[in-house]
Amino acid sequence: MERRKFLELSSIASLFILTGCGGGSDASHGGMGGGMGPSSSGGNDVGSSLPIAKKSLPIPPAIRGTNFNLTVQQSQHEFFAGVSTSTYGVNGSYLGPTLFLRRGSSVSINYTNTLNQRTSIHGHGMHVPANMDGTTHQEIAPGATWSARYTVNQNACTNWYHPHTLHLSGEQTYRGVAGFMIIEDSQSDALNLPKRYGEDDIPLALQDRRFDGNGQIIYAPNMRASMHGYVGNTFIVNGAVNPTFEAEAKETRFRLLNGSNSTIYQLSFSDGRTFKQIATDNSFLEAPVSMNSLQLSPGERAEIIVDFSNNLGDTLQLLESNYHATFLTISVSKNAKTSTKTPSRLISLEKLSPASSATTRSFTLDGQMGDFSINGKSMDPNRIDENVSINNVEIWEVYNSMPIHHNFHIHATHFQILDRNGNTNIPLNERGYKDTVFVPSRQRVRFIVKMKDYTNSTVPYMYHCHFLEHEDRGMMGQFIVT
Ligand code: C2O
Ligand code: CU
Ligand code: CU
Repeated sequence: MERRKFLELSSIASLFILTGCGGGSDASHGGMGGGMGPSSSGGNDVGSSLPIAKKSLPIPPAIRGTNFNLTVQQSQHEFFAGVSTSTYGVNGSYLGPTLFLRRGSSVSINYTNTLNQRTSIHGHGMHVPANMDGTTHQEIAPGATWSARYTVNQNACTNWYHPHTLHLSGEQTYRGVAGFMIIEDSQSDALNLPKRYGEDDIPLALQDRRFDGNGQIIYAPNMRASMHGYVGNTFIVNGAVNPTFEAEAKETRFRLLNGSNSTIYQLSFSDGRTFKQIATDNSFLEAPVSMNSLQLSPGERAEIIVDFSNNLGDTLQLLESNYHATFLTISVSKNAKTSTKTPSRLISLEKLSPASSATTRSFTLDGQMGDFSINGKSMDPNRIDENVSINNVEIWEVYNSMPIHHNFHIHATHFQILDRNGNTNIPLNERGYKDTVFVPSRQRVRFIVKMKDYTNSTVPYMYHCHFLEHEDRGMMGQFIVT
């Protein structure tokens, strides 16, 4: 009886998750026919006959210290009950451990590539020397190990690592190579926030994947999907399909990562509740921002506080509304073991003044027929596109000339958004330090940035659209800091 009920529930759940309903409110990502993904990209929709594996929310294992050994490997992972799916993982079957990095400590992150193809692993959001950035210039051959060695030198935030392999970042990330890097410092220590990792401080790697009828991952974006987004038919969090998180009846901190290749997520809770955003990509916000819906484009992060103090016994869902998907079920089933109270002020952020900037750089995002460019140029690892002087305050202006959406990510450091189409009234929840900014169709976004601490006259950093199919097809450029 238990089992029968489970099967019924899970096939209802899989119907709900897998049948989908087109592109939702976002016109440029919609119109994909009956399925959620690009129906012409090859392969069948997964049958609702594949029951999801009923799981509690997997929490990636935490690793602390200064020496981290990470093995990128082929593996098998269970997304659907009894089905083993071929995947890539890091020290495990899908995704990888969470690295806790302490500001001021010198770390060595040793990546070993046991795949039969080249890779490179980038610490997204990390402020590190260019030769430690983990891009195509630090490629790891099959069988080789590469170490990123640096002193952690930035504010507390939630970063992540993922492949940055020329033309293969999309596929390698899609198959499961990614993980969190959590930076801690004295400011985060001092704040009365949930900090019990896996209990009231929860990383959520949000992704969508396309599975075939045998439960195998299909990565085959055709030209249309490369343009409009290779949206999956199954939404997953930490490598599980609609798992359950047993929450304590207290404030809970979720570290949200849009770890998808090219899907814009609009996140909210099934009861419409208000939550507080406390951090952007690279820093806390100065003060928490109350909201009930949050948009994240690929690569962006947000930390939020959700208060379950009065919800003991309740069940709710974390929803994605562009595609009508359910990421996570939350069952508030435990008494609070500790109590926290999110302060009304978090930190002060240094702000760069536009008046102090003498340099403006312009970037136009463009493309056609599935090829993409920035300022008319497709990524060339042998070409340096921009030379940036250290400590120079600069305004970067990014214009999306296309009818589809993009975003823009820079390596090396963070920035602050100045305006969108001239409107300086930036939403409160985007006023922290960012490394990735959404750039909707025909919008011009300006941000202010200063390269600090590290120079290298030969090894470049990168800037690119973080829709990985766009990045892999040329929407990326390189800069050196001297
Ligand atoms: Cu998250 Cu250049 O990448
Ligand atoms: Cu990056
Ligand atoms: Cu793009």
